[in-house]
Amino acid sequence: MQKNKPMQRKADFLIIGSGSAGLIFALKVAAYGKVIVLSKSSMDNTATSYAQGGIAAVMYSPDNYEKHISDTIQAGAGINDEKIVRITIIESTERIKELIAWGTQFDKEKSGKYALAREGGHSEFRILHHKDNTGYEIQRALSQKVKEHPDIEILENYFAIDLITQHHLNEMVTRHRSDIICYGVYAMNRTTSEIETILARTTMLATGGMGNVYQTTTNPLFSTGDGLAMAYRAKTHLENLEFVQFHPTSLYNPGEKPSFLISEALRGAGAMLKTKKDEIFMHKYHKMGSLAPRDIVARAIDKELKLSGDDYVFLDARHINKIEILNHFPTIYAKCLSIGIDITKEMIPVVPAAHYSCGGIKTNEFAQTGICNLYAAGEVASTGLHGANRLASNSLLEAAVFSHRAAQHAIKSLKNYNFHSSVPNWDASGRVLNEEMILITQSKKELQSIMSNYVGIVRSDLRLKRALDRLEILYKETEDLYDKSILSQDICELRNMINVGYLVIKMAMNRKESIGLHYTIDYPEEKTKGRGNKDVKMRRDKVLKEK
Ligand code: FAD
Ligand code: SIN
Repeated sequence: MQKNKPMQRKADFLIIGSGSAGLIFALKVAAYGKVIVLSKSSMDNTATSYAQGGIAAVMYSPDNYEKHISDTIQAGAGINDEKIVRITIIESTERIKELIAWGTQFDKEKSGKYALAREGGHSEFRILHHKDNTGYEIQRALSQKVKEHPDIEILENYFAIDLITQHHLNEMVTRHRSDIICYGVYAMNRTTSEIETILARTTMLATGGMGNVYQTTTNPLFSTGDGLAMAYRAKTHLENLEFVQFHPTSLYNPGEKPSFLISEALRGAGAMLKTKKDEIFMHKYHKMGSLAPRDIVARAIDKELKLSGDDYVFLDARHINKIEILNHFPTIYAKCLSIGIDITKEMIPVVPAAHYSCGGIKTNEFAQTGICNLYAAGEVASTGLHGANRLASNSLLEAAVFSHRAAQHAIKSLKNYNFHSSVPNWDASGRVLNEEMILITQSKKELQSIMSNYVGIVRSDLRLKRALDRLEILYKETEDLYDKSILSQDICELRNMINVGYLVIKMAMNRKESIGLHYTIDYPEEKTKGRGNKDVKMRRDKVLKEK
């Protein structure tokens, strides 16, 4: 039996997640109260650390804010929240300066100016980077600052299970959802397996993405959508989860998990997509060719693979200067070489892989969710920046901007938020040890297969219905197992992934159109909804006519 431990911790600011969103918030609020940061594994094992290409920001002319705003809305197919897009991009320069002040080293040219790269959907060179491991560099700088701070406690290997709301206190929520209050979280100390109660005046959810709901993903293994599922169970509003971004170019290396990313910046430097017959094909689909927005490139590859029956296409970087490859892309070069591919001489086999969740927990301009005292930032949140498809390298930027805004709001509001005086410890009564681990492993594989086969790059009403029917069975079996078992991280993750899979399918079913990342053969006409200035209203080229 799991013991009812009286272990309770308290923090003025509780942060679930130690990626860029969580750590930036931590650094900003730490002067105003006690901070606890939870990390599911080690502090630096985050998707932030995996980021390759860089962080988008307007730095020098001829680039300007309007161009970046326009590119973001074009990529997002026009259903972005224009107010949020403007906030993000206009505040980008300040947030970049802050990252630099905290110690992040971005690459520079000989002249001393920052070296800027270009990625899909960008009309200008505006990606600040540190070689091809920008995220690792940002994480390094933030982690160092956080570790030096006396008022920030990091709890590594702590798995957040559920947000504590009135539901756990057997209190009724009076009128409607906006009365729900978050009092902290129940979290499993993975070292002792004890479930602790962590009380908080303010909670920030910064748990990242959910790529592992799919069979192949570039996301770290921990990205199982826990924050999304916790927020859903706590009854706040989630949106746009049908917009799952598949990165066009992950390294084709069967069996490797997560899939290794081949950064879009390589295409920005001139690499071209080709079929196995050495033929370029992207010009058939978009005027920007290999540098078209990601949804278009991923669908084009998907179509070429269906036409040819091949398992992968090639990315050809052979014509790029070797010095440029070694200087800018040392990680990709070394990784490919480790599996026998010298990218200066041979083409790289690539396939699309689940990469980023454009939707998430609905938040406002201060990263507030629909639950009192609960903020969300980073990939788990849906600010409205990305619309139907995220522009490359806009997510690290979004995390920086909205963690900053959340911190400002949370500091001002702290006086209004109190600890709850009588939160019960986790009730583990009646649960028994589950010895059938195989059931969990098998269900996870089934879920990933359902999502990849029926809710992938190309969808249909029939495929989505089939996915929902199959998921229903898994849901019932898993809830039954969850209710009876002593909790393990595996059963909790499976439950979360099923919750998230359900939300993706339901939101995909509700969208009766093809737009951005949601493409369905039942409504094949791809839509772009113009908003804002004239540039933005420019309609996207019609692409990909599915039979
Ligand atoms: P993360 O950095 O993923 O951090 C999530 C944190 O939450 C982790 O500490 C984790 O342990 C914790 N956590 C999760 N669940 C729990 C739980 N139940 N309990 C406790 N803790 C939990 N974006 C760009 O802008 N530019 C790029 O070049 C770029 N390249 C990318 C390359 C790859 C391979 C990948 C996977 C993503 C890339 N992205 C890029 C996307 C970007 O990295 C992420 O969207 C962003 O880093 C997310 O930051 P985050 O702080 O929200 O989450
Ligand atoms: C990449 O380097 O291609 C990833 C960039 C991103 O996901 O924003």
